[in-house]
Amino acid sequence: MPACLDCRHLSSQGTCRIVAPPGRFLRSCVIAIVDEYAHLFRPGQRVLEIGCGAWSPLKEQGRAVGYQWEGIDVNSNYMGKPTIATRLASVESIPFPDAHFDFVVATQSMEHWEEYCVNLRKGLSELFRVLQPGGWALVNVPIHFHGGPLFVSGNLRRLRSLFEPFADEIRFEQWRNPPTPLPAVRQTLRHYWFKPSLWGKSSYVLDIRVKRKAQVEYFNCRRLGILTKVRRALIDRTPLYYLTVAGILSFESCSSAWGDALSAMRTLLSVPAA
Ligand SMILES: C[S@@+](CC[C@H](N)C(=O)[O-])C[C@H]1O[C@@H](n2cnc3c(N)ncnc32)[C@H](O)[C@@H]1O
Repeated sequence: MPACLDCRHLSSQGTCRIVAPPGRFLRSCVIAIVDEYAHLFRPGQRVLEIGCGAWSPLKEQGRAVGYQWEGIDVNSNYMGKPTIATRLASVESIPFPDAHFDFVVATQSMEHWEEYCVNLRKGLSELFRVLQPGGWALVNVPIHFHGGPLFVSGNLRRLRSLFEPFADEIRFEQWRNPPTPLPAVRQTLRHYWFKPSLWGKSSYVLDIRVKRKAQVEYFNCRRLGILTKVRRALIDRTPLYYLTVAGILSFESCSSAWGDALSAMRTLLSVPAA
């Protein structure tokens, strides 16, 4: 039962009163969810938003209600607009002390962390480090839509297992009414075409609310998978990057030398080229 069936933005005819920008399929639910978050915050509390990009009504409401809003984003621009973040930083290394915030919010951001080589467990470990014990993490993500494979496939059991090491309580709520089949988004197709089990699946917004437990074991980077380590080494241009580039270049020159040798042999032997 999608939570949006109880949404206050739903008219008596069951249609959504929020007008989302064209093409932003799940936006009306995202706006309604963020609107709900705002009612949880009290004056004097501290709220961090991860991946705020260029949009967050929570920032404005913070001024009006009297809670302190901070935002981080890994990019200085989002879709051509400057970020509203108070700090430019990645979730992998949040520039705030332990247990600093009463709430940590991430709206439509977690599904993109891996694009910046952030291991999801490491990102969550940082998120819960800056959240005080008993504080709430409010994370919403699209499912069967775009982002990392975990979110496109909609493996909720695995998603829940990522939060479990940090949580006293976990709530998952599905939002979207009416659920229509997946929009043909290019990023989605990459995963979608190869997975018949996803055909005809509806995309929706998942609202994840997690209460932080008192004792949390933080993620140890040594546990990062080998592929993440290699990807990171390549992106950070460590010596492995230069070795790989050198390997590719020498392979290419070898293969062109091999191609030259083959055509020379063909000429010698008068074998017609295919
Ligand atoms: C789809 S946008 C959502 C922006 C905004 N929350 C909204 O709902 O309009 C995703 C945002 O997450 C940010 N982001 C992605 N990976 C991040 C990371 N590792 N650390 C911090 N921000 C990240 C992106 O830069 C982008 O601004």
